[in-house]
Amino acid sequence: MLTRQEILRALTTSDSGEVEALFLEADRVRREQMGDEVHLRGLIEISNICGRDCLYCGIRHSNPSVRRYRMTPDEVVAAAGRAAALGYPSVVLQSGESDVYSPDEMTELLGRIKSLHRLALTLSLGEKPREVYAAYREAGADRYLLRFETSSESLFNRLKPDSSLRERLECLHVLRELGYQVGSGIMVGLPGQTPDILADDIELLRELDLDMIGIGPFIRNPDTPLAGKESGTLDLTLRVLAILRILTRNTHLPATTAMGSIDPQGREKALQRGANVLMPNVTPTEYREHYRLYPGKICLGDSPETCASCLTTRLATLGRTVAKDPGHSRKVKSGSQPGTTASRGRDR
Ligand code: SAM
Ligand code: FES
Repeated sequence: MLTRQEILRALTTSDSGEVEALFLEADRVRREQMGDEVHLRGLIEISNICGRDCLYCGIRHSNPSVRRYRMTPDEVVAAAGRAAALGYPSVVLQSGESDVYSPDEMTELLGRIKSLHRLALTLSLGEKPREVYAAYREAGADRYLLRFETSSESLFNRLKPDSSLRERLECLHVLRELGYQVGSGIMVGLPGQTPDILADDIELLRELDLDMIGIGPFIRNPDTPLAGKESGTLDLTLRVLAILRILTRNTHLPATTAMGSIDPQGREKALQRGANVLMPNVTPTEYREHYRLYPGKICLGDSPETCASCLTTRLATLGRTVAKDPGHSRKVKSGSQPGTTASRGRDR
């Protein structure tokens, strides 16, 4: 376990030997706790329509240069089928925050995917009322990803002017109550983020006892109010990742697209510093370019099949294998074993 002082030291030290030791320990804990298998979750970006105006985000409501789209339910079901055909045991449906799919439409869609394929289903659709989360869960959703982005209330209010940290954390609480496997996360290198704030973020992520934690560098987008700010760095992002692996032991930690977008080797480096999950993009190629959160996003012109073979080759060079199982949470409620009905958020 790392103390707060040790976390701050790991975030700020310029001693390359210390940083190397941190990365080696994270890789050791990853191997001990999660093995060499990498879990693949196919990412389907189902719509870029968003009613919010997060300052960092390329698909924010006020960005007029985005061509908005909404995949039809049939297209989403077909994309999930393509992911299943590629052998991915799980898919993530992600979108901007809006009501472009009514709760009824979404629950029907989830039911169709679940009835056609043995896929673990993750949602990343933003903040919703409890009854909507409950309906999605009832329809077959197993997991939900909702990053709180920063634990600093003042930074949160500045960057997400139409949301509140308290409400976002409350959503995580509700999702847990409803039996979802819950993921959250942050961006690293946000303008105004200090080492102290980052240490608070890490401590909050640990306290939340999450099933999954997604982190990535903030990448400035020229079409947003943060156009003139510095992007985060891969180095600091990897330090945060390594610290989280050491602190949270068996949480699923992805090597994220943003890591691969600021450095061509970013995801490989992450897999060697604590990460055990990859999220290949299975969004139909025609829509991909319009889900542009930041510039330089990788795989924009590739087909799902190209992404699959590219990733398999990359994993092989690292000596890692592809997991065949859906990669459910490794967190176990007291008195239960992984995979039993008492373990958290089991799929149905
Ligand atoms: N609307 C949902 C939500 O807010 O949770 C999901 C979609 S949102 C685009 C997914 C994630 O993209 C956010 O949680 C944020 O961390 C990340 N993101 C957005 N803009 C980014 C940027 N400029 N650089 C890096 N990551 C970014
Ligand atoms: Fe809505 Fe980014 S501001 S998804």
